[in-house]
Amino acid sequence: MRAIVLLCLLHAAYGQTVEPDMFTQDYLWEPVDEPSQGPNADNACEVDRGSCSCCHSVREMHRLKTYFNASLNELDMLYSQTIQSFSKMKDGRTAFSVALFSSGNFKCFGPFTNNVNVVYEHVFLNLGDVYNTTTGIFTVPHSGVYSLALTVYSDAGSQGASLVVCANLQVNGIVVSGSTDSNTQDQEDSFTIAVALELNTGDEVAVSLPAGCFLCDDISHYNTFSAFLLYCNE
Ligand SMILES: *[C@@H]1O[C@H](CO)[C@@H](O)[C@H](O)[C@H]1NC(C)=O
Ligand SMILES: *[C@@H]1O[C@H](CO)[C@@H](O)[C@H](O)[C@H]1NC(C)=O
Repeated sequence: MRAIVLLCLLHAAYGQTVEPDMFTQDYLWEPVDEPSQGPNADNACEVDRGSCSCCHSVREMHRLKTYFNASLNELDMLYSQTIQSFSKMKDGRTAFSVALFSSGNFKCFGPFTNNVNVVYEHVFLNLGDVYNTTTGIFTVPHSGVYSLALTVYSDAGSQGASLVVCANLQVNGIVVSGSTDSNTQDQEDSFTIAVALELNTGDEVAVSLPAGCFLCDDISHYNTFSAFLLYCNE
């Protein structure tokens, strides 16, 4: 700082006007001390009024430097937060879509004497292995809002035979939505359930097949079950 003040005073002594842009172009003095410390710019201004423009420039430069440094620090922090949120979003990607059978021959799942989970064996997509093809359970990996959809289809096999197509969407064993169609008029029938639900980490979601119901399919994949994360909770 002493050097700056001396230079300022020298410029003043030679009667030169020191323009602010001179400092932006010929700024070579590093590091710059706090102007308020030691024999500072304020004092210099009081002692020699001719040095004022120089000292004001130094003060202004310091003020701008502090301001830009603070702005840069803040931007740095926001940037880190954005990168963190983005990587959390990437890690949280969740989606699966499954169908009843992988093989091409027409066959049916059920009927059973008890309620059972429909175990979809054909996997279109299973990001993060969230759907278990052994148990038929989707275990929620992150709390958030999920979109869930299932379509069921059944075929009685012949005209006038008994058709019992039913399924329930369950979360932790509790029915969220379901439908039953039991008759001898239709040989084939299907229905779809689509819901958006707020689910918590560890929740178990499954399609339950009530006792006596059956779902049939072939390579056409009429029976599908899908879910994906819409929004992750913080
Ligand atoms: C800029 O900010 C950082 C972080 O607060 C600080 O360590 C550094 O000394 C500052 N630099 C200047 C020139 O003010
Ligand atoms: C699926 O569930 C079975 C039975 O609980 C378990 O042994 C298996 O490890 C699970 N698979 C995955 C991919 O989590």
